[in-house]
Amino acid sequence: MKYDIKTLTLDEKLKLLAGRNSWQLENANGKLPDVFLSDGPHGLRMYDLSAAERTIQKATAMPNLCVVASTWDEEIARLQGATIAEDCIEKGADVLLAPGVNIKRTPLCGRNFEYFSEDPYLAGVMGKAYIEGVQSKGVGTSLKHYCANNREYDRYYQTSEVDERTLREIYLLPFEIATKAQPWTVMCAYNPINGVYASENKWLLNDILREEFGFDGLIVSDWNAVHNSVRAVKATIDLEMPYREAAYPQLKKAYEEGWLTDEEIDARVEKILALMEKTQCEKSVSLTKEQRHEAAATIAREGMVLLKNEDDILPLTAGKIVVNGPFADAPAMGGGGSAYTQTDYRPQTLAQALSERLGERAELIRPHGSLNENLNVHHIKATYKAAYNAEVCVLCVGTGKAIESESFDRANLRLSPTQEDLILGVAKINPNVVVVLHSGSAVDVSPWIDKVKAVLWAGFSGEGGQEAIADILTGKVCPSGKLTETYPLCLDDTPTGAARGNGFAERYDEGVFVGYRYYDRYDKEVRFPFGHGLSYAKFEYSDLQIEKQGETDYEVSFSVTNVSAVDGKEVAQVYVRDVFAMVTRPEKELKGFKKVALKAGESKRVRVKLCARSFAYYSVPLKKWHVENGDFEILIGASSRDIRLTDKLTIELDEREQYSLE
Ligand code: GLC
Repeated sequence: MKYDIKTLTLDEKLKLLAGRNSWQLENANGKLPDVFLSDGPHGLRMYDLSAAERTIQKATAMPNLCVVASTWDEEIARLQGATIAEDCIEKGADVLLAPGVNIKRTPLCGRNFEYFSEDPYLAGVMGKAYIEGVQSKGVGTSLKHYCANNREYDRYYQTSEVDERTLREIYLLPFEIATKAQPWTVMCAYNPINGVYASENKWLLNDILREEFGFDGLIVSDWNAVHNSVRAVKATIDLEMPYREAAYPQLKKAYEEGWLTDEEIDARVEKILALMEKTQCEKSVSLTKEQRHEAAATIAREGMVLLKNEDDILPLTAGKIVVNGPFADAPAMGGGGSAYTQTDYRPQTLAQALSERLGERAELIRPHGSLNENLNVHHIKATYKAAYNAEVCVLCVGTGKAIESESFDRANLRLSPTQEDLILGVAKINPNVVVVLHSGSAVDVSPWIDKVKAVLWAGFSGEGGQEAIADILTGKVCPSGKLTETYPLCLDDTPTGAARGNGFAERYDEGVFVGYRYYDRYDKEVRFPFGHGLSYAKFEYSDLQIEKQGETDYEVSFSVTNVSAVDGKEVAQVYVRDVFAMVTRPEKELKGFKKVALKAGESKRVRVKLCARSFAYYSVPLKKWHVENGDFEILIGASSRDIRLTDKLTIELDEREQYSLE
């Protein structure tokens, strides 16, 4: 160990257990290095502590995690992490406070743009890859917010009441998977879980995260998530952030009264010293600012999702094209709050970007009118007039950081009335409407979806979003993203509807039936299913084989063929169904996926490994993940509701390990 705890006084140790300010750790009067923690998942959001007033330094604004997730490509998640790490190294941030892997339990959650999915396996796998990307550059991460922090309403105090099986199978699973990348830190959430604050929940922090999941890094509190520093230390929180005046006296008094022991203090301090040692590694910048921007654009291109494309109206080719809407001149780069990155990059307008790509073939019209997220009547009328003589109208609408943000949830799933009216009004004049939808989570598109020909979901796409949108709309890039959350028909169809708890507690009554698990179980129609995404290419699936490689180890293989004349990429999904179990299980669960690039006419063999955990559920009475003997179906899908191939297998384990009816 580089830093010896024996050189520290008791007071220095106690002061190390809380931050020096909002972003830095204590340094024991200079005996230890300065360590700087900084947001965020979509680019460095670092305060300039030397500046007079709170200023955030500029950095590369990357696509939000909702877009990274929709690429279904672990390499892309690594690229996101590694690219942000470059800005961290340049500006001196040692630990990046990301990624968030909380489950998108309700589309109302204000921070869904910051999270990966409604599915825990996908969230965990993509979160793990992101961590690997950042830490490959010698910068730390903070896997957050541990755990069951699934809405912003009353996030500091409202307890999430979740049964243990649901916790394990849904809300803990992303953390269990992502900790395999050994993030340098994990951040505990604000909320209590089953009545005990995450910052005081020793069962979750120590027994599960440290001992069961094997996490050996530092646990940091979310900012101001610690209510009692002593209980936090005893629950094995290593670092309380930010600085809190009451922390040191509370700890000192508890020590003097014998409530806090030297062993408990030293165990936490050792974790802090270990983190400090990690931060002293060699790091170097390898990407220019332009290369980081290009990485942002690449990720945006890979993650945008073509939701609808009637009459193959896309890609755009020629003619008079009207472009308007609140996000026509600049895409929604990110959601609001601590994950919003300040960039000095100014994108082209979409009209300019499209004109550049279509050239003389097209005439781009961007009617006058003030362009902001609140449309005005001149804006709308000008668009109507222009639409009358146009071939196609591209309307750039969405939510943006004023609607989707940290610290508050959405009031509903609809677009604003003026945006809905803009779409409906233009569609009445010209049926050839293409909507570019800027949102961080699901939108209720029911008022207008049948009135438009195409919808491209752009997500919150970072500084490279505009060029990505233009590349996809003009066919320069073939869209390949797929949804990682269900688009329900309406809010009332979601597991939680408009409910938000009662300010004291929220019961997770739907249990494991979250997202597509819920819509499948209750046979609900959805607008766009989990895993949905169209392409300009066309893919066929064939020849599913299942090879047994061990007691519960299998290799699933199948072929995907691009039967079109367009090069593209397809995300093939592998779902498992437990045909009969002693507990109620979801109809299908995602247990593998692969994004495969296929040239026109090309065919590739896709292979996915399944193991015991692909078949198991968490048994509370047995206190373990349990595989029941019996039949399992393997479903290969282009989405969770577009199953292309199926087969089945039978698992027959030692009966002495079984607890079924017989
Ligand atoms: C915020 C967020 C957390 C962020 C931290 C520092 O409240 O919950 O995600 O990293 O505080 O800004």
